[in-house]
Formats: sequence, structure tokens, C-alpha cells
Amino acid sequence: MKVTIDGIEIDVPKGTTILQAARMIGHEVAPPTMCYYSKLKTSGGYCRTCLVKVTQGSAANPNPMPKPVASCRTEVMEGMVVQNVTSPDILEARKGVVEFLLLNHPLDCPVCDQAGECDLQDLSYGHGTEKSRLEFKKREYEVIDIGNKIKLHMNRCIHCYRCVKVAEQLTDGRVHGMMHRGDASEITTYIENVIENDFSGNVIDVCPVGALTDKTFRFKQRVWFTKPVDAHRDCKKCKGNVRLWYKGEDILRVTGRKDEWGEVEDFICNECRFDKKKTSDWVIEGPTKVNRHSVISQNHYTHLNELKVQIMKQQKALGFMKIDKRP
Ligand code: SF4
Ligand code: FES
Repeated sequence: MKVTIDGIEIDVPKGTTILQAARMIGHEVAPPTMCYYSKLKTSGGYCRTCLVKVTQGSAANPNPMPKPVASCRTEVMEGMVVQNVTSPDILEARKGVVEFLLLNHPLDCPVCDQAGECDLQDLSYGHGTEKSRLEFKKREYEVIDIGNKIKLHMNRCIHCYRCVKVAEQLTDGRVHGMMHRGDASEITTYIENVIENDFSGNVIDVCPVGALTDKTFRFKQRVWFTKPVDAHRDCKKCKGNVRLWYKGEDILRVTGRKDEWGEVEDFICNECRFDKKKTSDWVIEGPTKVNRHSVISQNHYTHLNELKVQIMKQQKALGFMKIDKRP
């Protein structure tokens, strides 16, 4: 099926969503996402971050769709024409979505463990406005432990449902979910249950904000001062492919490896995540190559050469002289 997104045409199989088609083209046209997660079935459709304008429904019916659609839940049609970054209306509408997502979200980035790898932080820099118009008090919850390894900071939750999908699809006997409706909705365990199963730690990795954090890592270090390294081990419960986060010689935390869209490639078990914090537990593959625009990529020597090449290209384009050739 042929679909055109921001003026770029691509051929995709039937059943592809607009978001998937946009991701096939690349980052320049792919809408941001806060609830969709390609590895979790039925995710998406909650946050409206990924909305786009369909200016032509299909070749057979060239009428535009009457309002913006969630690209993660809308399948492409033959001859569909879509606008994302080329539509000023969509950019304006997305600012509104960001404002709603931030409505109850505390601005505690300086003390939040997710800072530096928070999707909402990136989203608000890229698509938000600098001011909030909220005049009322934000909702507040107690920070609670759900199990001995996971902390729930409900104030920061944006109701994306990713953790619920993880619990539904990766574990037996789900004990947590969303309670209540609308503004009062909250992620919670059913009457103080703890989340204890082999894959429960994955809720930490999928949470786009700092609502679910790793108690073994909390407040130990800002993430941009750590060094991510890819490693694996022979594990009976999961594939054992992980990312180790070093500070000096110490492994401060273990997470799943994330791809260029910020999604975990393989979900990992709690044994790999919480119990294997010695270098001797792992076969080290080498420093992680961070492709995403992120503070995590700062100061990592694997990028130094790329950076040098970019600077030299820019200097050439601007007509800079080499220092040793200056009069
Ligand atoms: S706790 Fe995190 S993953 Fe779960 S719904 Fe809230 S924001 Fe999403
Ligand atoms: S990513 Fe599509 S609605 Fe949230």
C-alpha cells in the first residue's frame, strides 16, 4: 500500500499503522509516542501524543479525515496522505496534548531518577510550551513500595498503561492495574499486594516517566554520569541480553537494552536485573552506542570520532580555515 507522510511516499504491507509507516521512513517524520510500545500488544491509543492529520483518506476516497487521528491506532489505506511535522495545526494540537500530560505531573526533574531518560521530559522540550496555565493544585499521592525492588511515585504517572500491559502479557496473576476513572485514575496494587514475579522489573523499563523506579538504583547517580555497557549471560529465564550502567568499577543498575525508539528489545528477568551486579556475572560486549538524542550519549568516547567529523563538515561548509593555515 502506498502512503505519503510529510511528502515522502512509502510502500507498506496491509495492516501497517500510520505510526509504523512513519517509523519506516525515519525519525524526521515519526510522531512521538508516550503510550504505544511495539513489543506490547494492544498498547497505544491512550495519550494522543502521536496524532497526525490525514489530508486524504485514500485514493478511493480522497476526503480528509475530519479531525486529527492517533497514528498508532490508525491503519494506512492505499493512497493515504498524512501530515505530521508539516502541519502547523498538528504541532499546535500536540502542544495542547503535552500541556494536558503535564497538568498533574510534578516538575521535580532535578530530583527525579528518570531525568535524562524521561520521554515526557524530551517531549516537553520538543513539543511543549514553556509555561503552564494550571491554577489549581496538582494531585498528590504518597510514594509507595510495590514489592521490595520497585517504587511507585504515582504523582508522576501519565496513565499510559504500559506497565499494566507488561503485567498482563509477561507475568501470571497480575496484581496491579488502573483503579478509578478520569482525573482520579491511579496505578495501584489491589489492596497492598506486592508485585513479585520473575518479570515484574520490566514495568520500570517501560514506564516513560519516573513513576516506577528501581529501588536498588534510586538516588545513587544521575544517569548521565554513568557509562552504559552491553553485556549478556547464559540465563534460563530470559535471553540474558542486558545493559549494565557503570560508575567506575561498580555496576549501579541493570536494564533491558532499548532500541532507537526507546523501547526494550528483549524483556529481562528479575534475576538478571536485580541479582547480577558484579562484572564477573557478565560477558561484556562493549560500550553501548546510544543513537537517540539523549544526555546519556554525552561524553561517551564512541561518539567522539563522529562528532569530530560533523564539526569538520560544518567548518568546511562555513568556510573556516584550519588553525595551522591561519596567517
Ligand atoms: S506507572 Fe508508568 S508505565 Fe504505569 S501507567 Fe503510569 S506512566 Fe505508564
Ligand atoms: S502513542 Fe498513540 S495514543 Fe499514545
